[in-house]
Amino acid sequence: MLPTESEDISPDQLMTEAVEAAKQAGALLLSYAKTGFRIEHKNAIDLVTDADRAAERCILEHIRSRFPSHRILSEEQGPVVQIPSRYQWIVDPLDGTTNFAHGFPFYSVSIGVERDGTGLIGVVFDPTRNELFTAQAGAGARLNGTPLAVSRVDHLDRALLVTGFSYDIRETANNNLDHFARFALKAQGLRRTGSAALDLCYVAAGRFDGFWEVRLSPWDMAAGIVILSEAGGIVTNFAGGTHSIYGKELVASNRLIHPAMLGLLRQNTRPTS
Ligand code: IPD
Ligand code: CA
Ligand code: CA
Repeated sequence: MLPTESEDISPDQLMTEAVEAAKQAGALLLSYAKTGFRIEHKNAIDLVTDADRAAERCILEHIRSRFPSHRILSEEQGPVVQIPSRYQWIVDPLDGTTNFAHGFPFYSVSIGVERDGTGLIGVVFDPTRNELFTAQAGAGARLNGTPLAVSRVDHLDRALLVTGFSYDIRETANNNLDHFARFALKAQGLRRTGSAALDLCYVAAGRFDGFWEVRLSPWDMAAGIVILSEAGGIVTNFAGGTHSIYGKELVASNRLIHPAMLGLLRQNTRPTS
């Protein structure tokens, strides 16, 4: 029987369905990567492929058939179900579209579930490595079932950091290039991978020590921040205050290097809108 809105749905049930949807979408992405796909341009550098759209359809059908009363916010379709509900699913069917379109094997499916406006479930699936990152609030984070913990690196000199750039990089002065230049001179290493959801999971797994970015969207972050928080990491805005997935700044780390990262980000006086 389908659950009704008045029922409290068990986090395990939400997790099971989110994992199933992410795996199905991941398999679809791999098949499109093999057989080919069409590319459309949203702007000069922002792409969407028919693989993004097919993966999104697959996930949304999965959610709707199990939880018809839940709200859904999904990248390509926007707010899909706008009825009042305690639950909201936040979906990026393909995080890393530019990588995907170039055959660069670093992309993911990201599915987060909020209950009463707070992140409850995070699922990020990397189909090319068959890596499934999962977390439930209060119950820890896992990679393919094995518990995850952030790194113990406590100095920027020894930290491997990651960042990204939004598609309006050519149109806005708040394009992250100033932060990038500053961190490049302070960190042991700096990467730009092209999938923010995986960047958050890699901090959770101790593969990166810190991540920052400006102008991300809710679907880039919703699942990853549950996973990172449950792995012992921290996510804030650049002032060190509460992070919102609807906000424009994200700094995420293993906690130990957080003050140093905030210090460097604060050296910038540029407005962040
Ligand atoms: C993008 C990726 C990238 C980040 C961009 C996002 P998309 O998402 O997460 O790492 O730097 O800001 O828009 O378009 O590949 O889903
Ligand atoms: Ca994305
Ligand atoms: Ca996307």
